[in-house]
Amino acid sequence: MVKIILDCDTGIDDALAIGYAINSPEIELLGITACYGMAPVDYTFRNTKTILSMLNSNVGVWRGSEKPLILEKEYDGKIHGMDGLGNMLGSVKEYDLEDCPSTHAVDYIIEQIHKFKKELTLVVTGPLTNLAKAVKKDPEIVQLVGRVVTMGGALTTPGNVSKYAEANYRIDPHAADFVFKSDLPITMVGLDVTRKTLLTEEDVGKWRSKDTEVSGFFADFTQFYLDAYKELHPYLKGCALHDPLAVGVAKFPDLVKTIPIHIQIDTEEDGIGRTIEDLYRKTPDTPNTEVCIQVDTEKFMNDFFKCII
Ligand code: BDR
Ligand code: CA
Repeated sequence: MVKIILDCDTGIDDALAIGYAINSPEIELLGITACYGMAPVDYTFRNTKTILSMLNSNVGVWRGSEKPLILEKEYDGKIHGMDGLGNMLGSVKEYDLEDCPSTHAVDYIIEQIHKFKKELTLVVTGPLTNLAKAVKKDPEIVQLVGRVVTMGGALTTPGNVSKYAEANYRIDPHAADFVFKSDLPITMVGLDVTRKTLLTEEDVGKWRSKDTEVSGFFADFTQFYLDAYKELHPYLKGCALHDPLAVGVAKFPDLVKTIPIHIQIDTEEDGIGRTIEDLYRKTPDTPNTEVCIQVDTEKFMNDFFKCII
């Protein structure tokens, strides 16, 4: 059983990743930390709590960062809706935040890494802001944690928010830059592989026909994401299971083939957020990242469908 903390910006495919993790017998989900990203953090916190309660899970949720380290974040709701869940839940109400823990997500991450050390895998499916802050606050965690699986980046394939950049690293390139320079044991699950794990209209139709409250809710918010993909990425013939694949890689490392490489994050305006090899890195002289370049799509999709709802 792998012990996981999921750090996410819930988000439609983050919600699918949560469902997949909760229902995976091979995963012990210790807690979920919410970050701003696909919606403001109050929304991602509320969305996470809602998904967990629909799935009858009592896993705890910690509220995290409100904005990138340096840049500002604006929201257009195009891919995930203005509320982050396909506009299914609308605006956050005061009562949605009533049971928000007083411990900040960053402190929870630090505390859990000290507690579980190498046993712990941190899966990040949003911007790397919470993790960057945790390492800045307590650099010792870099040597303690077992593994960091981050959904983000694009090494051999174009970006999805610019010619070069993937959304999670483009939102907070400075946090990503800091994390990749930190010597954490990183596995990068980027667009190179997540564009090969696609959910189709037919798949979502099957959820709808199960006719339960949970399957109907999942089908409704996922339909929003499918429609956005149809409009913005019509060549894909489905919507990408970015964040669920990161959970899949944490669960079954052999789902993917990786190459070791020194990844650096471009923070210059022309290529901001891009993941590229750092040719000049000398210390340490070993690669800082395992980059996923191939995925066993069939094995992943079968496991995802088995667990999700
Ligand atoms: C990433 O950005 C978000 O749209 C998804 O939730 C995923 O984490 C893909 O680029
Ligand atoms: Ca996400």
